[in-house]
Amino acid sequence: MNKFATVIVAAAAAMLLVTGCSKSDSDKIKVGFSQVGAESDWRKASTESIKGEAAKRNIDLTFSDAQQKQENQIKAIRNFISKGVDVISFSPVVATGFEDVLKEAKEAEIPVVLFDRAVDVSEDGLYVSFIGSDFVEEGRRAGRWVVKTVGENANVAELVGTVGSAPAIDRKKGFEEIISNYPGIKIIKSQSGDFTRAKGKEVMESFLKSPEADQIQVLFAHNDDMALGAIQAIEEAGKKPGKDIIIISIDGVKTMFEAILAGKANCTVECNPLIGAQLFDVVEQIHEGKSVPSRIPSVEGVYDADGNVNVGTDREPVVTKKITQEIVDSRKY
Ligand code: AHR
Repeated sequence: MNKFATVIVAAAAAMLLVTGCSKSDSDKIKVGFSQVGAESDWRKASTESIKGEAAKRNIDLTFSDAQQKQENQIKAIRNFISKGVDVISFSPVVATGFEDVLKEAKEAEIPVVLFDRAVDVSEDGLYVSFIGSDFVEEGRRAGRWVVKTVGENANVAELVGTVGSAPAIDRKKGFEEIISNYPGIKIIKSQSGDFTRAKGKEVMESFLKSPEADQIQVLFAHNDDMALGAIQAIEEAGKKPGKDIIIISIDGVKTMFEAILAGKANCTVECNPLIGAQLFDVVEQIHEGKSVPSRIPSVEGVYDADGNVNVGTDREPVVTKKITQEIVDSRKY
């Protein structure tokens, strides 16, 4: 082959490659996703679930980490709108303040799917679906577990999640709804640990240095990471977590299961982060022009050291599962 022919063949091959690439790219569904951050093991599992599921399917995913800042999230959503993605999804850092950007997405005719956390908006139709847990019910389950295992008298310290976030607002609401029926159960300390292990430890240290320290009988943490930080603080203060202070939290991460098995914590209410598949099922349905349910709840359990405590209602029982080594080993997050 002469030099000229080689150039022609190479150019044709390159064109084929380019055309081939752009064709398969344009076939893909473009999704912009804005994640809260990487504040907890739960969140890391959620991110893996989203990225892993997108990679398995025909999805061109633009993933953005908001580093727990709402302003980053709003910027990311505006960027998705200007890129003209097919679907926008996000897990809102806080519940309020998204109305304007959601209206912009609506004007651009880009459907929005809320993932994991809901938003507080006054107008209908700003998102097409919300996939995630019932955080109020998680708080209720935690409250019922305290009533049934600790009893009707207990002084509770509460580690609250990120201020203004849906899980922090709702878990507190659900827990308080249950304990309001038992005047002997009181929240004597309550502060945000921002859903992180480091902050959970720091706030628990301050609880344990406060005048009420010796009255604390139960710790209710809005997530496992804060509870795990608090366990360290309790041990460093010379107390036995899980015994001197009963610990219940929410998420069901593997490290918390291990802590319960080791007797250092007592119960975790599951909040499932592995909902990437549900998200992209909905994205595909939207892309095919099908209608989607406006609310898609996650299916979740509750785990403790002994099992058999009904933390649901009489009409809808949810019985705790006993944590075993086998369950810990099979835990995916
Ligand atoms: O929105 C879900 C909550 O966010 C999880 O409980 C917590 O671990 C995460 O940071």
